[in-house]
Amino acid sequence: MGRSVFSHFLILSNTSPRFPSSMLRGQIPSRYFKKPEQIHPRNLPSGLGSTSFRCRCSVALPETNSSSESSSSSSSSPISAVKKRIVSGVQPTGSIHLGNYLGAIKNWISLQDNYETLFFIVDLHAITVPYEPKQLSESTRNTAAIYLACGVDTTKASVFVQSHVRAHVELMWLLSSATPIGWLNKMIQFKEKSRKAGDENVGVALLTYPVLMASDILLYQSDFVPVGADQKQHLELTRELAERVNYLFGGKKWKKMGGRGGVIFKVPEPLIPPAGARVMSLTDGLSKMSKSAPSDQSRINLLDPKDVIVNKIKRCKTDSFPGLEFDNPDRPECNNLLSIYQLVTGKTKEDVTEECREMNWGTFKPLLTDALINHLHPIQVRYEEIMSDSAYLDRVLVEGATKAADIADATLNNVYQAMGFLRK
Ligand code: TYM
Repeated sequence: MGRSVFSHFLILSNTSPRFPSSMLRGQIPSRYFKKPEQIHPRNLPSGLGSTSFRCRCSVALPETNSSSESSSSSSSSPISAVKKRIVSGVQPTGSIHLGNYLGAIKNWISLQDNYETLFFIVDLHAITVPYEPKQLSESTRNTAAIYLACGVDTTKASVFVQSHVRAHVELMWLLSSATPIGWLNKMIQFKEKSRKAGDENVGVALLTYPVLMASDILLYQSDFVPVGADQKQHLELTRELAERVNYLFGGKKWKKMGGRGGVIFKVPEPLIPPAGARVMSLTDGLSKMSKSAPSDQSRINLLDPKDVIVNKIKRCKTDSFPGLEFDNPDRPECNNLLSIYQLVTGKTKEDVTEECREMNWGTFKPLLTDALINHLHPIQVRYEEIMSDSAYLDRVLVEGATKAADIADATLNNVYQAMGFLRK
């Protein structure tokens, strides 16, 4: 189990800094930028450390571990001694689509058995672009229900609403002071979204959004963050920011402030799946499937009824090449539809290649439609059940936020202490 869970992700610490070294380092001496250590199998959760484990990853480990944390000072550390920790979230805007599911949520399910997992609904992120206040709380509840319907198990994972844990916003302000504005100006999502909105009208929060995302992750001393490929740059910024704050305020400096010393934040790793990390639009195989695309025809929403799925697949863009194949750059739509089919059927790429090699679109489209309907139908049934029991959903979110706040507050207190604030 462990091996299959872990080895299907690309772990990208060897992709780390993408910022020009001059911008990144500022006044930080170069000796600080050491290579991440190679992860040793014994540092992986049980089941992952077997000799057959093949991940060729390297993971930046914190300088301290849980045993050294217990040794000093009043500042408590929330770093888990038992299981490694995973956090992730989705914005409650628009409909959750197949990209969100295959790129992120579906992968959470396989991780919750072996990791301590916290999954939040990032409502504070949803207000960074124009939104409808009347719909925000409803979409937040709907998104939570989708997490559960997809298989997030609250006996294993904490599910909560980002704005219910105050520490997210507080830490964001503290981190903002350590974030060079040049890092934010380089963010691709900021450039794209601000261009779309018309630069003058864009809210400041769209620029500072990655700092909030870094807070979401660093508050929980997260080891891994399962996301789609579009979040990779945000994860890189999070890693840089963690290292920068550790350098500026951690170690001996923190000890002098009465703290534990060592690192303040763990440096997290993105977990990006090799298949499903970038699900493309149904109407243009070169554009990402997206909630904000004007045409609903471009995406499969998790709650789309059968007839809508039938119609969307019937009308989706294809090509006129013979047969079907993966990885032909001239056939982005073909690659995308085969990948979706592979993921929703749970087949291997080799099996799908073999099965579909000689097919034409007329044969494949009904197959894909049935596979999608069969996969999504149980999720839709569970979603309706969960939505019909609002007390249950409320309870899940309260319990999730309580647990999350305990971890988050401990980190936040450490940061206040390390940064020299007078505490009550
Ligand atoms: P959001 O809400 O845009 O997307 C949620 C998750 O879905 C993935 N995703 C996709 N994956 C594959 N193909 C696609 N077409 C596709 N579209 C979206 C995203 O990569 C993401 O994993 N900033 C984040 C939310 C966030 C977050 C966090 C995530 C805020 N704080 C902390 C992890 C940890 C976002 O806007 O995701």
